[in-house]
Formats: sequence, C-alpha cells, structure tokens
Amino acid sequence: SGIHPFFGEHQAGITTPVQDHLHFAAFDLVDGAARDDLISLLQDWSYAASRMTQGLDVTASGAVGGSPEAPPDDTGEALGLPASSLTVTFGLGPDVFEKDGVDRFALGSQRPPALQPLPSFLGDDLDPLGTGGDLCVQACADDPQVAVHAIRNLSRIAFGRARIRWAQLGFGRTSRTDAAQATPRNLFGFKDGTANILASDGDGLRDHVWVGEEGPAWLAGGSYLVARRIRQTIESWDRLRLSEQERTIGRDKRVGATLSGGDEFTAPDFSATDDRGRARIDVRSHVRLAHPDSNGGVRLLRRGYNFVDGNDGRGSLEAGLFFLSYQRSPEQFVTVQRALSTDLLSEYLRHVGSGVWAVPPGARDGSFVGEALF
Ligand code: HEM
Repeated sequence: SGIHPFFGEHQAGITTPVQDHLHFAAFDLVDGAARDDLISLLQDWSYAASRMTQGLDVTASGAVGGSPEAPPDDTGEALGLPASSLTVTFGLGPDVFEKDGVDRFALGSQRPPALQPLPSFLGDDLDPLGTGGDLCVQACADDPQVAVHAIRNLSRIAFGRARIRWAQLGFGRTSRTDAAQATPRNLFGFKDGTANILASDGDGLRDHVWVGEEGPAWLAGGSYLVARRIRQTIESWDRLRLSEQERTIGRDKRVGATLSGGDEFTAPDFSATDDRGRARIDVRSHVRLAHPDSNGGVRLLRRGYNFVDGNDGRGSLEAGLFFLSYQRSPEQFVTVQRALSTDLLSEYLRHVGSGVWAVPPGARDGSFVGEALF
C-alpha cells in the first residue's frame, strides 16, 4: 500500500498494480450544462484527485479545518487513513461529443472516430440505467473506504454539473498488471489475469493499450476503457463437474495451466490432442476463443473486479464480474467479445451493464485531465 502519483504521462489506474478494491461510477452531465461546466468539473476533479491520491483531504481546509459555520469541504470518512494506493482514472463517453444529434459542448470535431457506443452482442441483457454515462471515474484502492470516499467526494464536487448515473463496488481484483502480483481468482474459482498485458510489457502497452499517432492528438498516450457488468450464474456453475469447469475455461483449476500442459504461464498449444484425437483445449473454451491467435493478434489489458450485490430474490447471490479492459481501440474489445459468442462459458454469464469511454493521457501538475481537448 503506497502512493501513486496522480500526475504523469498516462493516467494512473491502468498499469498500476491492481489494487484490492474498486468503486466505479458513471456520471451524466446535467441538462443545460455548458462547455465551461465540463471544463471546470474536470479541473476540480483533477485537483481533488491529485490530493486524495496522496492521502489528503479534497481541499486544504478539508474535513475539519474550515469554518465551523459551513459544511466541510471533505466528508471526512478517510481522515486518518493512508493513501492506500488510491488511483482515480477519468474517462469521457461518446455522448460528450454528440448526444441525440446535439453537439452540447462544441466538441464534435474532436470526437475520436473509434468512440462509438458498443454494438449489441449475442446474449446482451443490458439495463439501460446501468449502461453508458457521459463521464466515468474508476477509483481503486487497497482500502474500500478510501475508494468510496473518493467517489463520494467527486460526486459532491460535481453537484449542479454532473450526477451519478450508475455505480459499482468491486472486491477481490480479478486481474494483475504487475509480474510480482500473484494471479487472483474470480467467482468461478479460476485464476484470472494469467495472460494479461503487464506494466513491464512496454511493447504490448505501446501496440495494444496506448492510443498512438492515429490520434486524435488530445487522446495520444490515453486509452479506451470498456466496462461490462457480467452476472455469473454461480449456482449452475457450482453444479458442474470439475473436469467440465476446466474444459469450459480451457485451463486447470488448481494451477491455472492450459489443458495442453505445463505450468500457469506455459503458452497454450491449441494443436495438442488426447489419445482419442480430441483437442485438449476445447475449440469452444474461453481461453481459446479469447486468445490472440483466434483474434488476429488482438490483446486487452484486463483490470476487472468481483462483485456480490446482495441476492436476487430467487434465493441466489447477485454475483459476477465487473469486467474492465483498457485497449488502444474499442474495436479490440468488440473483436474478442464477438469471438466469445460461441464460448462454453457464455451459458453461465449474462451481460447486464456496459459502457465505453475515451481515457485521456495523464495530466501535468497544475493542469487537468482532458485539458488538451479544449
Ligand atoms: C482469460 C474468466 C469474461 C477476455 C480468462 C481466464 C479466465 C477468464 C479464468 C484465464 C486466465 C487468464 O489468462 O486470465 C472470465 C470470466 C468472465 C470473463 C469468469 C466473465 C464473468 C471475459 C470477457 C472478455 C474476456 C467479457 C473480453 C471480451 C479474456 C482474454 C483472456 C481471458 C483476452 C486471455 C486469453 C489468453 O490470451 O490466453 N478469462 N472471463 N473475458 N479472458 Fe476472460
């Protein structure tokens, strides 16, 4: 647990070693918000985030240093807590550039052609109220209270300019971005994040995660974030035989090795067959269909979290994976998600929420995230 600088070449929270907890929120700018409101909001958010990520209150007077006659600037629940590796990552959705045919903030000419609402996929069951959003904020920390404090205070700062459209708490990271991190497990009990793009993989990040010369210029060094709220029907999964679970994923459950053998990090051999001539790694297994070899070399940086949001009234846990991936273009996610339409795993999944945002590069000290857009 430490301090991750808010300012830098890229926004923190992408290649940063994945923290244990997430609070994610999608915001809508209020009706009538003007271009200046959007600019001032991004300024105020960046300033507050640069302080909170150092373990400080949102302003210098903060929770208890201001006038006793006024509500405090900071809500106070993180007083005394360390920075806890907090990162705050901001993104801008397609509607910022055009909504219902209206270019609300005179930004239409700056729109990245790749920033379009995601197409619908087979099996989507999206809740419109849990989908989309003009802006997104991903707060990750090793202490859940610190992540919640960040979203709560950013939401308070946004008052009158933007408000929360939907939000998601996550626990138990399902990915790793640092070679030193052990691979965690998702709610199906499998290691998740084995074949991820790591912070140390400079070529992988350059080719698959950071927006390059294709631009637009304001987004160079940034990325695109895709979020998918995926319900996992853990009750039916839990009734599957172990061998069937492993066939579905394409990896063994204990070690995380692919079913063609080796250890967790051995590359899969999709041509390997058993003594009856059947593919060891099922052609419809998740790992095979999601693998770059099945998708023209496409890769994603995954950074998702588990969630359990109470129960669903039919005696089942409302459990799942809040899938987050960063990529140089949303097209990468679309390619993989389309390939997964025949995935054996899809029988146990339901996508109920979704969003895509352009994630600007990092800001310099004294500047703010998204400044180059205006
Ligand atoms: C790999 C689980 C959804 C893309 C994996 C692995 C597991 C897993 C256990 C193998 C370990 C690893 O390399 O991380 C799940 C579960 C999901 C889910 C439980 C839903 C609840 C998705 C979605 C996508 C995706 C929606 C993208 C559209 C990938 C990719 C890999 C992977 C790209 C790495 C493939 C490779 O290079 O070997 N997933 N996944 N997954 N998954 Fe998923």
